[in-house]
Amino acid sequence: MVKKTMVVFGASGGIGSCVVSDFQEYNKSLASRSLSFYSDETSLSDSVDVRNAGQVKSFVERTHEKFGSIDVVVNCVGVINVKSIQDIDLYEFMSVFDTNVFGLLNILKETSRYLENGFFINIGSLRDAIPCRNRAAYCSSKAAMCMLIKVFRLEHPSIKVCNINPGYVDTDLHPDRKYPYDKKTMERKEVLSARDVVDKIKSLLRNPVDEVEIGEVFGGRDDICLM
Ligand SMILES: NC(=O)c1ccc[n+]([C@@H]2O[C@H](COP(=O)([O-])OP(=O)(O)OC[C@H]3O[C@@H](n4cnc5c(N)ncnc54)[C@H](OP(=O)(O)O)[C@@H]3O)[C@@H](O)[C@H]2O)c1
Repeated sequence: MVKKTMVVFGASGGIGSCVVSDFQEYNKSLASRSLSFYSDETSLSDSVDVRNAGQVKSFVERTHEKFGSIDVVVNCVGVINVKSIQDIDLYEFMSVFDTNVFGLLNILKETSRYLENGFFINIGSLRDAIPCRNRAAYCSSKAAMCMLIKVFRLEHPSIKVCNINPGYVDTDLHPDRKYPYDKKTMERKEVLSARDVVDKIKSLLRNPVDEVEIGEVFGGRDDICLM
């Protein structure tokens, strides 16, 4: 049987690397800034900055040339900024949008031509609809990503476009890695692991749905303290 091909953007991150270590049945093509060039029979990886349309285009073309098809794209790229609206400057705000929104735009534009009947899986966030103090750039970029994905779905009815909106996932996205505790009982609340997100991707590949939510967000809640 011919092996299918999965492309993972943000493949070096907490969620992305967990995706990469799974899905043995696929050829895999891995992109993020900190990866270096590697190629063998079933894998390709390279340093790709999704803000650079030319790099995304070249990587997607090289993937298609090497494996002959692109069947699943998983976007795990994301950056966060932890500053209030008062303190964040325009450049910092725009740089979150450059990666999370315009990076996604570059990926959508370059992969859609190969993806007919395939899957586009995007990792969004519950923060696309639940605001959090000091996360204005991140929350609003996630809301923009969510709408971009919705329009992409309308424009490409032959592609199964799934948006996963996780709550807090235990990864290096969070600069301080604080954990949520119930203020009354001081019991630590359960947070998602990258594996939980991968399990959700697996279930979407079996039974695609447009939008799914998993887990919870904790920042900004009165009943929770972060330590
Ligand atoms: N962790 C959470 O609590 C949580 C919750 C909800 C949603 N999410 C979303 O899940 C996705 C994955 O997050 P994560 O938790 O796995 O975070 P992470 O560990 O920080 O991974 C982020 C990934 O994005 C890549 N990246 C950043 N800027 C890039 C750029 N310009 N070009 C290419 N790649 C770039 C990073 O690789 P390089 O630095 O090597 O480029 C890394 O592979 C993000 O969209 C995040 O918003 C996370």
